Amino acid sequence: MSATTEHPAPAASRHALPDPGEGIPAISWPIVGIFSGAIAVFAFATWAALTDALPVPVTVLLSATAIFVLFTVLHDAAHYSVSTRRWVNVAFGRVAMLFVSPLISFKSFAFIHIEHHRNTNDGENDPDHFVSGAPLWQLPVRFALMDVPYLAFLVRNMRRRPRAEVLETSFLLVMSAAVIVACAVTGHLWTLAVLYLIPARVAMIVLAWWFDWLPHHDLEDTQQENRYRATRNRVGSEWILTPLLLSQNYHLVHHLHPSIPFHRYVAAWRRNEEAYLERDAAIGTVFGQQLDTDEYREWKRLNGSLARLLPVRMPKRSSARAAVFHPVRVTGVDRLTDDSVLIRFDVPDDLREEFSFESGQHVTVRTDLGGEGVRRNYSICSSATSDTLAIAVKHIPGGAFSTFAMEQLQVGDTLDLMTPTGSFGTPLDPLASKNYVAIAAGSGITPILSILRTTLAVETDSRFTLIYGNRDADSTMFRDELDDIEARYADRLRIIHVRSRDPRHPAHLRGRVDRPKLEQWLGSDLPVASVDEWFLCGPVEMVTDLRELLIERGAEPDRVHVELFHGYQKPKVADEFSPATVAVKLRGRQHEVSLAAGDTVLESALTAGLEAPYACLGGACGTCKAKILQGSVTMEHNFALSPTDVAAGHVLTCQAHPTSEEVRLDYDA
Ligand code: FES
Repeated sequence: MSATTEHPAPAASRHALPDPGEGIPAISWPIVGIFSGAIAVFAFATWAALTDALPVPVTVLLSATAIFVLFTVLHDAAHYSVSTRRWVNVAFGRVAMLFVSPLISFKSFAFIHIEHHRNTNDGENDPDHFVSGAPLWQLPVRFALMDVPYLAFLVRNMRRRPRAEVLETSFLLVMSAAVIVACAVTGHLWTLAVLYLIPARVAMIVLAWWFDWLPHHDLEDTQQENRYRATRNRVGSEWILTPLLLSQNYHLVHHLHPSIPFHRYVAAWRRNEEAYLERDAAIGTVFGQQLDTDEYREWKRLNGSLARLLPVRMPKRSSARAAVFHPVRVTGVDRLTDDSVLIRFDVPDDLREEFSFESGQHVTVRTDLGGEGVRRNYSICSSATSDTLAIAVKHIPGGAFSTFAMEQLQVGDTLDLMTPTGSFGTPLDPLASKNYVAIAAGSGITPILSILRTTLAVETDSRFTLIYGNRDADSTMFRDELDDIEARYADRLRIIHVRSRDPRHPAHLRGRVDRPKLEQWLGSDLPVASVDEWFLCGPVEMVTDLRELLIERGAEPDRVHVELFHGYQKPKVADEFSPATVAVKLRGRQHEVSLAAGDTVLESALTAGLEAPYACLGGACGTCKAKILQGSVTMEHNFALSPTDVAAGHVLTCQAHPTSEEVRLDYDA
């Protein structure tokens, strides 16, 4: 989601804050603990550096870690949350300040930091905006110089500050300069650099990054406008991030309740989570994906314990050993266009694992129509990161199932649904940064929609271009949904609509998605070399033509993924093939069937009464995939398996004719 999405301040944001349920302790023992530990580490690193007991990078790292930890002591002291006794906070704050930045007095730091809280994200008045509002390329330098804007801010506001505080800061500045000059003159500048100057800058970089940039960058609301959206929480991987960032992954809680000690942020969030969500709290994931309230709720519910590790629920394939039918209730039948409907299914909890799917997969629907069993294969159009299983059915004149779906199917009906199969999509990696292009025509959008939504949700750095051909706007399936997704992922998604019968559509995007049009895109803004994966889904002619062109232009065949509406249906070829014996492993059981000359492996299995999986019978859907363990077959057509699948011994049994007398294959492999 674009970080610049507008979020009008909800009425609730102006209401009283929820009670955090966390008070200021008489003394915060965790702060005492990290303070003591950090001082001990710093002392040890100093001794190690002075005696050459450890390599310089190790002592620098140890000292930097100690300074980083001492900032949390300073920070909590500035908010008077170390203890209910004021002097205790001042004492901890003054000592910690000497380590973090001896250029500024504790009181001055506390003043400047509170101004940050009052004016968060206000470019004029937020001293931390030096970092959180900086262009990316300047960040390393600004991170390292984070105390400079603090000093500048203090100079600008000197008149507002007590004389004693200004004098203390001036004294510290002079003393700091004097120590550096003295070390330089006496030849000890390198020692000072190793003991303090370098570790302090390393710590400053990490502090600016984790305390300022991560919680505030790219948020447009200021504290005054909407305090729930001026700072964000970063959810996921808490098991490592909370101790590593000393709870600043829940920085929003700190900005809402600055007096809570750092180690209670997560508890306060959990206690009031619903209240914060009602106020549209800003939330991002570890990997930078911005979540609105509904997305966060779904993310949390779906991920369960995995939420600690992953940015979204990772898609996974069905746990079924071989595709199998289950009766599943229909929970939604919604018109998409005049001639298509969206069907949603209510997968029972005990079948969730069997019906989990990866984007680009499909399901076969089976039902009885007028005493005749019909089965059709449809791509899943819902995101594989959601728990919704939905397909879209386009009406085919005379088509038995599509006519039934358009005219009779109702919420509450039950259909036999085969567990998901197919491998049109590609594996996703939350850390990948790839460029995807999909070309779809008509109802070819259904698997593409699932791939597009899933990819953008899982890979938050990847980009996607969709070229989508239709007659006109009214016949475009998922038109509103695509507009929404494009607005939401405006920085990473581009949709190009091509229309064949819309005279008002831009001339260069009129007509069909064909070879000349793709040639133009390849020659301008979509050069083959810039694209990592191609997805093509639509009529046979379009898909085969465009695939050929991409491969001619240098695309690797493995990177061009195709899915067809229908395979080729070919007359029987009895003369070309001999009979054979086929040993079939299906759902863990072994069977032996006789195959008549010209039959496919699938036909022989079905004739023998086996419940072998299939759908399109045309080599397009991949439902009938099995692995050859012994013997050999030849396929008439293959529009579903990748070269890698074929090299691994997989075949489409609906297209496979034995070329050896005996064949052994496994549907479960
Ligand atoms: S049944 Fe569709 S490819 Fe074989």
